[in-house]
Amino acid sequence: MRRVVFVDDAPEILKHLQRTLAPMQSEWTMQFFPSATPALAAIRETPCDVVVSDMTMPGMDGAQFLGEVRTVCPQTIRIVLSGDQSPANYVRSASIAHRFLRKPFDVATLKATIGQAEALRTMLADPALRSLVNEIKTLPSLPSIYQELMQEMQAPQASLKKAARIVAKDLGMVTKILQLVNSAFFGLRTYVSDPEQAVALLGFDAVKSLVLSSQVFAQFDQAQLPSFSLEALWRHAMLACACARRIAKGAGASQPVMDEAFTAALLHDVGVLVLVANRPADYARVLELVRTTQVPDWAAEREVFGADHAHVGAYLLGIWGLGDGIVEAVAFHHHPADCQASGFCAVTAVHVGDAIAEAQAHPGPVSSDVPGLDQSYLTRENFLPQLASWRELCAAA
Ligand SMILES: [Fe+2]
Ligand SMILES: [Fe+2]
Repeated sequence: MRRVVFVDDAPEILKHLQRTLAPMQSEWTMQFFPSATPALAAIRETPCDVVVSDMTMPGMDGAQFLGEVRTVCPQTIRIVLSGDQSPANYVRSASIAHRFLRKPFDVATLKATIGQAEALRTMLADPALRSLVNEIKTLPSLPSIYQELMQEMQAPQASLKKAARIVAKDLGMVTKILQLVNSAFFGLRTYVSDPEQAVALLGFDAVKSLVLSSQVFAQFDQAQLPSFSLEALWRHAMLACACARRIAKGAGASQPVMDEAFTAALLHDVGVLVLVANRPADYARVLELVRTTQVPDWAAEREVFGADHAHVGAYLLGIWGLGDGIVEAVAFHHHPADCQASGFCAVTAVHVGDAIAEAQAHPGPVSSDVPGLDQSYLTRENFLPQLASWRELCAAA
């Protein structure tokens, strides 16, 4: 039985929640609080799985409350349910909540959001790793790009277009921007996969507060792990993205699958950044294992962390609310045969695009196979006959 805690200072909203969620009583234990202080006391006593909180409340407000929840109970999924759509509120929520829902809320979305959060628990079995990812506020950015964006946003003639181009050069910023713009909070009907378009939609004020708050965008500390290159990780992501896009197009994929493949390929190795930024000493052991035993990175990560970057990244993107198709493609990018989906989908494009991008960066003899490709999956799905043409499409990427 999952424990879900709701906090809202408006009695009519609490009543509405209680009434509409009554059918869920067979699956969830629910508690409703009119303010943050008693809710926090209850969570201290019995940890909860999901907390849904209003932002603007007298006394302790939603951001403070969720910050406390993060400390007391890092494994809890934190959801903001707010009617205030000002950029300032948006930015405060972004630094503290996993998901944003806006009022008036619809029960189906709330149920689906809590259901997804639950499903993701199975993706990362280790509670310690889950807590680590749940605690993450932000992904670090390259200091040079962070400075460049800061300067642009403070310039008298600051341009949103230029800012968008800067954001598109950084994995941490792209992930956060896509989370924000695709959250229910923002209320878009279509999925936005292009980082530059996402910045344009967020608008100047929101982007400026994101940059200046320093709660949301933070700088990567290279000194923690000098042997790791964030630039190289992003270069690889962009190449994998170009390849995945060409493969999806070549396979005649639908627009939604193309969009999923594009975003998932861009973010497919975000789990590496999560592990490097939060457990640098352990990741140094991963790099050492890869260097000395030539095992793939995911195998070394499983040895050191008990999970690999694919699952860590997919879990993060899942709790941050990126779509299921993207989460799935990231989760299975090294082991697509483990995925239930059949036929061409974003998983296919990202798996093949990633392997080809990796092979292009470390070229071997021309006729050799592409290392890292899951032959059993390609055989099962009958993709082997298309492989040569996909490689050709990617050659010019
Ligand atoms: Fe990977
Ligand atoms: Fe990769």
